[in-house]
Amino acid sequence: MESTSSRDRYVFIETFGCQMNDNDSIRMMALLEANSYRKTDRPEEADLILVNTCSVRDKAEQKVYSTVGRYKSLKEAKPELVIGISGCVAQQAGASLLKRMPHVDMVVGTHNIHRIPALVNEVLAGQGRVASTEFDEAIHTEKYSVNSTALKGKVKCFVNIMRGCDNFCTYCIVPYVRGREVSRPAGDILGEVRALAENGIREVTLLGQNVNSYDGEVTFPELLRRVSAIDGIDRVRFVTSHPKDLSEELIHLFGEVPELARSMHLPVQSGSDRVLERMRRGYTVSDYVAKVRMLRDLYPDMAITTDVIVGFPGESDDDFEDTLSLVSEVEYDGMFSFKYSPRPETEAAGYPDQVPDETRQERLERLQSIQKDITLKKNTAMVGRTVKVLAEGPSKADASELTGRTSCNRVVNFPGDAALKGSMVDVLITEAYANSLRGICRA
Ligand code: SAH
Ligand code: SF4
Ligand code: F3S
Repeated sequence: MESTSSRDRYVFIETFGCQMNDNDSIRMMALLEANSYRKTDRPEEADLILVNTCSVRDKAEQKVYSTVGRYKSLKEAKPELVIGISGCVAQQAGASLLKRMPHVDMVVGTHNIHRIPALVNEVLAGQGRVASTEFDEAIHTEKYSVNSTALKGKVKCFVNIMRGCDNFCTYCIVPYVRGREVSRPAGDILGEVRALAENGIREVTLLGQNVNSYDGEVTFPELLRRVSAIDGIDRVRFVTSHPKDLSEELIHLFGEVPELARSMHLPVQSGSDRVLERMRRGYTVSDYVAKVRMLRDLYPDMAITTDVIVGFPGESDDDFEDTLSLVSEVEYDGMFSFKYSPRPETEAAGYPDQVPDETRQERLERLQSIQKDITLKKNTAMVGRTVKVLAEGPSKADASELTGRTSCNRVVNFPGDAALKGSMVDVLITEAYANSLRGICRA
């Protein structure tokens, strides 16, 4: 990209939402750096501000408007500042965002990230404000790979293996804002992981809305085997697994491939068959529990985490009690729980029996308080065990300590030499907290 002046141009990217967006932001930054922009952490210094947005719940969407609103004064002080909105709210609202927020120059949909440098140039050339939100049927792999040098100094990262979703759960906006499900060819993914490994990456998390339905020339289990076999890759994770597509082959793979980390995020959403059906999840509570049992029987150290929605339209007190029973029975290692939020275009938003916010709030609090005790109990059970921790670097709270994760995906902080970064360290767990563990090196 040609620069309008000889000085460096700075870009500030603010990211909301899930790992898809985190990954997209890394790609955006790499693209802009290749077009002579430099990264800044200070919006006041930026020539280009990009807000990468999430619309999965109304609260996330509202945050976008307040965040972008805050940049208005910067634009007033510096009219040549370019402000762009990307991600799922951009895809959902499109050009209407330009009308709603006159200080925004650019709206970029989820399939148009690769066009950002050209769009910025259009704005800078005085061609007016732009919105680019067309869906693109084909998955052009070069648009999906992360330049491994963008991750210099990192020990772990995400790798996109697919985009979009075809499941259309009745509450969910993702299929509308991310488009149809398309898998990346296996060869491209493996090439990317090899390059990452050569640049110091030790752990990859394969990323998709429903990784179990991966279909890029090889099956998902086969892809996992091949990724795990790459030199330098010590640990492999994947998110998100849809319970309906979790196969026995995949479950057995954990016993076959030592690099596969012993954790699985398996969103259940509800413990009531009636609700699951209205959510169009495609499994029953007993199907789900059977898979969890199999995982736990085969691998006692397997951590299972989940997502739950409370207050879905029509959820009765009994339905909610069924969710609580399931949660107490399964004893999840961790949980994300949400109040149902009606989303534009989705089927459930039109269901007549919406649950009042007060009830949704009450249910959320009850669920969270039950899970809090379970999480702590599970963390406490780790005390006294020696586990392998992939050291990621200095801990945030105390730079003289290292931080990393166990195979079961728990955060561990421990005193240790910075030189251990990137290696697998044996750590004896000495203390457990709500969200992390502490330990000491055994070597
Ligand atoms: N593809 C993943 C989830 C993506 S969205 C999967 O199928 O599991 C992440 C989580 O947000 C979902 O698991 C769900 O629990 C929650 N969620 C999605 N839409 C929601 C809505 N309208 N209201 C509340 N929570 C929602
Ligand atoms: Fe949304 Fe369901 Fe697709 Fe997950 S599987 S992204 S919850 S529609
Ligand atoms: Fe992710 Fe939010 Fe979009 S959860 S896919 S960033 S709507």
